[in-house]
Amino acid sequence: MLIAPSLLSCDFSVFRDEIVRIDQGGADIMHLDVMDGHFVPNLTFGAPVIKKLRKATEKPFDVHLMISEPHRYINDFADAGADIISFHTESDSDIDETLKLIEARGIKPALAIKPGTAPQVVLPYLDRLYMVLVMTVEPGFGGQSFMPDMMEKVTFLKAEIEKRGLSTLIEVDGGIAKDTIAVAAKAGVDICVAGTAVFGAPDAKEAITELRGLCE
Ligand code: DX5
Ligand code: ZN
Repeated sequence: MLIAPSLLSCDFSVFRDEIVRIDQGGADIMHLDVMDGHFVPNLTFGAPVIKKLRKATEKPFDVHLMISEPHRYINDFADAGADIISFHTESDSDIDETLKLIEARGIKPALAIKPGTAPQVVLPYLDRLYMVLVMTVEPGFGGQSFMPDMMEKVTFLKAEIEKRGLSTLIEVDGGIAKDTIAVAAKAGVDICVAGTAVFGAPDAKEAITELRGLCE
């Protein structure tokens, strides 16, 4: 299991130091939540902030766009150093066009689905995707409860990925903690995002190691 701490729950007054801390703590991927106050009822940060943080680590930057018009900003996030860009199928942007913009920049494309969205919507694009992000909470805020029902989507997508012989990864995001991560692992998840479980713990390294251990 790859662990992707969500910086949404870090101490933003020392954003760079928090990235260094979880890098040293064994984080596999840095999950960066971009919110526009429109697609979700919360605001975070954008490409200029990510660009400034890019040099803090060599670990991949997984940029989760919770914004209404992702296609307008793909080049900005590419310039900022994103390695993976996820955008929502429920956004106002054309999925094919937005994927093309990501592909043109040589970045790993991912589609994200909210809890109310059926996994079938990603099937026409599955062969082009590096990853599918299955939300296990309503996007917008950290610290919410994991929705175990979403594991049905993971199982469904995993079967389709195997059937087609693809290497597409499945990421889950929201409510991942000591008491929920094993359920995700069992369902076939490859990458777990964890905000509160990492940043709310006294020792990030211990928290990351423990989460990973619970998947074995
Ligand atoms: C929610 C974000 C998540 C969030 C997860 O909209 O996409 O990445 O930070 O936080 P926890 O792990 O606390 O649920
Ligand atoms: Zn996220």
